[in-house]
Amino acid sequence: MEPFYVTTPIYYVNDVPHLGHAYTTIVADTLARFARARGRRTFFLTGTDEHGQKIAEAARNASTTPQAFVDGVVARFRETWQQLGIANDDFIRTTDPRHESFVTWLWTRIAEGRAPDGEPNIYLGHYEGPYCVGCERFYTEGELENGRCPQHPDREIKVVKEPSYFFRMSAYAGRLLNHIERYPDFILPDYRRNEVVSFVRGGLKDLSISRTSFSWGIPVPGDPFHVIYVWLDALANYVSALGYGTERYTTFWGEGERGRAIHIIGKDILRFHAVYWPTMLMAAGLPLPRTVFAHGWWTVRGQKMSKSLPATRIDPLELVRDFGIDTVRYFLLREIPFGLDGDFSFEKLLERQKSDLGNDLGNLLNRTLALVHKFARGQVPHVTPNAAVEQRAIAPMREAMQAAVQEVPRFMEDLAPSRALEKIFEFVRRANQHVDEMVPWSLAKHDPEGALPAVLFGFLETDCSIARLLAPFMPSTARAMAAQIGMDPSLLEKWPEASDFGKQVKPGAPIGQPEPLFPRFDKERTLALLAKWTGGDVPAGAAGQATKPEPAQKPASGASTDVLPEVTIEEFQRLDLRVGRVVSASRVPKADKLLKLTIDIGTETREVVAGIAQSYSPEEVVGKQLIFVANLKPTKIRGILSSGMILAANAPGMLALSAVDREVPAGTKVR
Ligand code: MSP
Repeated sequence: MEPFYVTTPIYYVNDVPHLGHAYTTIVADTLARFARARGRRTFFLTGTDEHGQKIAEAARNASTTPQAFVDGVVARFRETWQQLGIANDDFIRTTDPRHESFVTWLWTRIAEGRAPDGEPNIYLGHYEGPYCVGCERFYTEGELENGRCPQHPDREIKVVKEPSYFFRMSAYAGRLLNHIERYPDFILPDYRRNEVVSFVRGGLKDLSISRTSFSWGIPVPGDPFHVIYVWLDALANYVSALGYGTERYTTFWGEGERGRAIHIIGKDILRFHAVYWPTMLMAAGLPLPRTVFAHGWWTVRGQKMSKSLPATRIDPLELVRDFGIDTVRYFLLREIPFGLDGDFSFEKLLERQKSDLGNDLGNLLNRTLALVHKFARGQVPHVTPNAAVEQRAIAPMREAMQAAVQEVPRFMEDLAPSRALEKIFEFVRRANQHVDEMVPWSLAKHDPEGALPAVLFGFLETDCSIARLLAPFMPSTARAMAAQIGMDPSLLEKWPEASDFGKQVKPGAPIGQPEPLFPRFDKERTLALLAKWTGGDVPAGAAGQATKPEPAQKPASGASTDVLPEVTIEEFQRLDLRVGRVVSASRVPKADKLLKLTIDIGTETREVVAGIAQSYSPEEVVGKQLIFVANLKPTKIRGILSSGMILAANAPGMLALSAVDREVPAGTKVR
């Protein structure tokens, strides 16, 4: 099997780790654990981005030196990953000497070569333009919104005017487009690829790759008056950590134009990874990463995470202390299809913990172990072969396991961990149903065929299979399950084969005492947690059954109470409502309320103009699945033919898009 190399972005150390960082890292950790279990040689890298103006300013604000400052924050990152059980193989810092020497080498190598148009790859010039220190990125005037950075509206935009080295990126646009076209899995998900393609087709500019107005960085070889642009420096980590030219490099970076690295990133930094980085690698003559996967952003109770809203700055360590590490992992991996934006709601987290984890998984283990204690003296039963019993007691679970063993890897190859978990939990639910169907309590009273030992043995094999399937996603739970079942924990390190069913637990081996995997939170605890994490702002019914039903709510002020005259079902059915996915979005020039959206409705794509620009940015809507009126008469808005309409809830000063609560194929009918 091919070696597997997965990376997270290296995190800026001007900020302590928060939920957004933890998300990317947990997904990458899961992919790495899965690849290891499948027997692939695996390398999982994370680290920290420590140079640049942003960090230099943060150090100055903390009245310390940049080096002392970064050393302090790096410790927080390391500790967080360690306590979250993240199994990274290496941790790269851009202040590591091994990194600095590689960046110097990379610069020199690029500078020695020529671009496809025959001009030198790097030349000295002069830069003048707006720069956002938050993004560490140059902007054009047109990209700013009201003179501010769209990502960091709280930060002052600086106008930089200084000598600078430039990378001749403009000359690489054609090669980059060819590469994107040739390898459809180079940029994922598809809707992000479209975004990059239209950006590159619009023409690439040369990239300013050095700064002179501060010194916290790696000096430009031969011109120490300049420091190397922090993004060139940072992107190089993916190679510097492997050690260019070593066996590790050859194994994991790969050869040819299509290398092996899978870069997991947030959608905010797609352009750096899908345009700057590959063109730099082309200029240096190095293989490109296999895949750049840009995931969506988490909001917290509907709000963007931001330093000015402390309630949105979730500390991952405190979160896992309160809710348990695997509840958090499960929620993050399962709740949102990887790629899309999601809202982190504590109510939904508690709901998943209660239903999927407690009622389905925890209950399955608990009841099966209790049965083995009661009817098999707490030991894995010995089974006498009997084809008829085997057919009823073992075969259905072997089949259910086989389906999961085969389908989960497909979802993981597509980088769809939420689908993979969905599949595993189908098995869990099927297993609970199987326990009911086998009526073990009645069998214990009346069992002419002597089927009970085989039935109980089948339960234990099922628990064991599920523990193994879950190990990459929820390693602590898998270990706790293994300890209770009394199974060999080394089985958790190997992805099962369907033919393992029936051979995983050892007849006669003692099983452990059942202990709840996900203890149920009582009413007080639930309310206390919600109050703590949501600042006391607990909506009605948030604690599930723990709260009394609230009296009917008054309509929020401004909501219309007048219901329109009745329509018949036939009249309603004349509307063709469908689920559509936004595949691209842009602002309509000179119309501050309008976005132009391209919507995929399965059979075709449609252009529509939507009045949502004051509540949603184009980046925010791309990828969303929305409810779409497909048979609305087309109309021209600002010269654009708008063919259809998306549905949204509109209250005074507030707008919310209508969506479906799980992924469905584009074009699915809504009734
Ligand atoms: N230092 C750069 C990356 C350089 S990689 C060569 C950087 N660092 S960062 O600290 O700002 O972290 C960015 C990453 O954190 C995002 O790309 C994303 O992976 C993750 N997230 C930060 N906030 C997030 C959310 N609110 N939601 C999900 N992930 C987010 O950019």
